[in-house]
Amino acid sequence: MPDNKMIEEINRRRTFAIISHPDAGKTTLTEKLLLYGGAITLAGSVKGKKTDRHAVSDWMEIEKQRGISVTSSVMQFEYEGCCINILDTPGHQDFSEDTYRTLMAVDSAVMVIDAAKGVENQTRKLFKVCVMRHIPIFTFINKLDRDSRNPFDLLTQIEDELGIATCPMNWPIGNGVDFKGVYDRNSRKVISYTANGGQREVESVEAEPGDPCLDSLIGEANHRQLSEDIELLDGASDELDLERVAKGELSPVFFGSALNNFGVEPFLEGFLKMTSPPLPRVSDKGIIEPTEDVFSAFVFKIQANMNKAHRDRLTFMRVCSGKFTRDMEVSHVQGGNKKMRLSQPQQIMAQEREIINEAYAGDIIGVFDPGIFSIGDTICTPGHEFKFEGIPTFAPEHFARIRHKDTMKRKQFVKGATQIAQEGAIQIFREPDSGMEEVIVGVVGMLQFDVFEHRMSTEYNVEIINEGLPYQYIRWIDNEGIDPKKLNLSSDTKIVQDFKGNYLLLFTSEWNIRWALEKNEGLLLSEFNKN
Ligand code: G4P
Repeated sequence: MPDNKMIEEINRRRTFAIISHPDAGKTTLTEKLLLYGGAITLAGSVKGKKTDRHAVSDWMEIEKQRGISVTSSVMQFEYEGCCINILDTPGHQDFSEDTYRTLMAVDSAVMVIDAAKGVENQTRKLFKVCVMRHIPIFTFINKLDRDSRNPFDLLTQIEDELGIATCPMNWPIGNGVDFKGVYDRNSRKVISYTANGGQREVESVEAEPGDPCLDSLIGEANHRQLSEDIELLDGASDELDLERVAKGELSPVFFGSALNNFGVEPFLEGFLKMTSPPLPRVSDKGIIEPTEDVFSAFVFKIQANMNKAHRDRLTFMRVCSGKFTRDMEVSHVQGGNKKMRLSQPQQIMAQEREIINEAYAGDIIGVFDPGIFSIGDTICTPGHEFKFEGIPTFAPEHFARIRHKDTMKRKQFVKGATQIAQEGAIQIFREPDSGMEEVIVGVVGMLQFDVFEHRMSTEYNVEIINEGLPYQYIRWIDNEGIDPKKLNLSSDTKIVQDFKGNYLLLFTSEWNIRWALEKNEGLLLSEFNKN
């Protein structure tokens, strides 16, 4: 018997991530969206200067210090009948793995681009990760109130660099001090805005191009330019094709200024019309539809010590099907189908936590985790067990030998390194037959070393010594029962073990990998851990 209320709730869910280069305006846009949903009362008050108040979605110490978003947080709000879940992502390429995991938990992504800078170096990798996932990507080109690049050039850059077609939904009129608003290509009307210091109400005047009133409203030159641009666009740009959007091949593009509320609400409305309710997911027992009666979820993020006062570990799950109710019994598939009740299920809004009684497919819940879950685990209704497709781990590209300064702190050192590794922020290895006095840490981006060091010091009270190692490539040895010490390896190749006991090799160059394969017949190396 289908539960209509449940289906209705699921269909009104929209779950997406926002990605951007640091400073492109992701936080500001997020705040404006929350403001429309009434989730916060006055955007702008949440984020003042970097030195005093901080945005609701930025909470970790190091994020404040560096002004970057290191970890993802989740926000939920209501807008015109939709229940919207926004997942924030780190804006730095060194955390692209975290972004990738977050993207596994959403149904679409919004990419924020600074109109003066276009696609930026650091974010190329993040955006590519997004394209790799084939999820629908919506683009918000921000800061039109500042001097901006030519909008046609911006679109060409997105298309060329990211390999995704674009379809502008609106078109900017002027930029910088001369920014007058946007032309909405669907209603074929000009919407002119007045900045109003971040308040919700926006003054807008609507008129079609060609209307003489536009000469005075946006200026003759802007009016002329707009008419030319529109003619060009109508003739040359890609048609809005929702099927291509759904496959991640075509990105609808919106222009605006988050800070001044130019084009934010039209963006939200347009986006909500085009993005889909929760999508089906692939499992080892076939496709799982979100509206199935069976509850299921998967773990995409683990974070310890989010709030120092709580000293706990939270596991974030994306609900993929059915309804979750507090105190319901669930089965942890990767934990040998162990039955359990999820402890203190909660929704997180930056530092605020709220215990929830129910959640539906599309929602993200955080649960208190005594250390039993791993990234990619499936949780579902007992008796209906299956596994969702796994989340791949990125191969680390930077390595360092890490020791604790103070030998009295061994216990904390082991605890900290292990917990942070379980979160997936770092990978830890050790030399064969060595203890835990020192470990070899591998990361995807160098900044993760800083985060690791900072967290070891602030959360575990351990000062560490970090000695950089020259390795750049990692390979697991797939041959069963092989003794790696008997392998013929170049002198700068290192044998290490992961914490499951699997052997790996660290190489300084691709040349050395080839050498190992040539000199050791039958040797099987893989870039990913298959166990
Ligand atoms: P991020 O999360 O992507 O890193 O960017 P964030 O929203 O923090 O925005 C970065 C800066 O850009 C902020 O300045 C913000 O006010 C500004 N900004 C965002 N949207 C717009 C826009 O549409 N127009 C203009 N002109 N500026 C915008 P800030 O952090 O306040 O810097 P500061 O002034 O405090 O040093």
